[in-house]
Amino acid sequence: MVVVVAVLSGGDPIPHVGGGRIMMNGLIVGARGGVMGRWSLRAAAMSTKTWATAGRESVVAARCGCLIMGARFRTGPPSVGCMVHTHDGIDWAKRVAVMRRTDAIEAEVNGWVARRLVDSLPAGATVVDVGSGTGGMAVALAAALAARGGGRVVLVDAVPELQAVAVEQVRAVDKVEVVAVRADAAEPRLAEFVPAADLVWASRIVHHLPDQLAGLAGLARLLRPGGQLALSEGGLHTHCLPWDLGIGEPGLQDRLVAARNAWFADMRAAIDGAVRLPIGWNRALTDVGLRDVTAFSYLVDLPAPATEQVRESVADWLAWLAAVGADRLPESDRDILERLLTRDGPDWVAARDDVFVLNASTVHLGHAA
Ligand SMILES: C[S@@+](CC[C@H](N)C(=O)[O-])C[C@H]1O[C@@H](n2cnc3c(N)ncnc32)[C@H](O)[C@@H]1O
Repeated sequence: MVVVVAVLSGGDPIPHVGGGRIMMNGLIVGARGGVMGRWSLRAAAMSTKTWATAGRESVVAARCGCLIMGARFRTGPPSVGCMVHTHDGIDWAKRVAVMRRTDAIEAEVNGWVARRLVDSLPAGATVVDVGSGTGGMAVALAAALAARGGGRVVLVDAVPELQAVAVEQVRAVDKVEVVAVRADAAEPRLAEFVPAADLVWASRIVHHLPDQLAGLAGLARLLRPGGQLALSEGGLHTHCLPWDLGIGEPGLQDRLVAARNAWFADMRAAIDGAVRLPIGWNRALTDVGLRDVTAFSYLVDLPAPATEQVRESVADWLAWLAAVGADRLPESDRDILERLLTRDGPDWVAARDDVFVLNASTVHLGHAA
């Protein structure tokens, strides 16, 4: 199997091609994961059709090592120097280990959600995971496709460190072609660089975009006629601690969630060009032209006594809440957090047998006409 990684770096003016402002750089990754080469492609105005052609031919190029369509294919180190970035000020690359742990503890429920979504797709379907992170759901979607004979999974993310992990995970699934597109999901021309999708999965990414409705419209444009958008946004916050921990004031969990919510509002407000979305997700999906809008919710329910991996994940979650919420918490809570997060200390949270993970996610569904 060959993996084509495309990097869309918007805004590069290309001389002499009249109106063109597109440049793509890619990696060609071999079946065993080694980087076989790099390619770059400049075009004036690529339509979905030309992208599809470029994608196919790039795969061909990877197989025979030839030059096609002005794509340069040469050996060399991975090309990660691109202009794609997120808007949220979050250092996602630092979160690889944490996100992988979340993927691991949610693997079972992800499998259930993926089968539910993939079961109604045509044979050999193309599934696009936008904001694919370290690939937890992408692997589940790939496995669901493989169980029905195979298909294609397209990983779209702006962060190379996460995308590399996701590619590695999905590549291990037989019968599924993997395509990685490194791009800003807010890029209005996204559909020109992503193969048309039978299913677009977008989990906890749209709320990181400046204009969420415009972002959703962009995701809807990735769909084939009749294709389905599955947007995972909202639900119920993670709970993981007993109400009274025996140290500090009871109710720490609730104060942490309140602090996190205040951070979230600030994070949104600090995004350059942020636009409010003053409606619920069902209305947003309808507003971008999708039909038959419905939703379902599912629980991640990993009760105490939990496995070591789940308890480590609780520590991850607490560390994240402490990082984003510290300024909004009283000093007494900050002290308790420090004690809970001191590995090997007497209050190390992951050593407790009464911590757990409980949260709910809502998946909003809509179909392209
Ligand atoms: C909260 S994580 C969600 C990961 C995964 N979908 C999940 O639900 O576990 C957000 C993901 O979106 C990616 N992301 C954030 N802003 C982005 C943007 N503007 N364009 C593309 N990806 C972005 C991050 O790199 C990260 O992988």
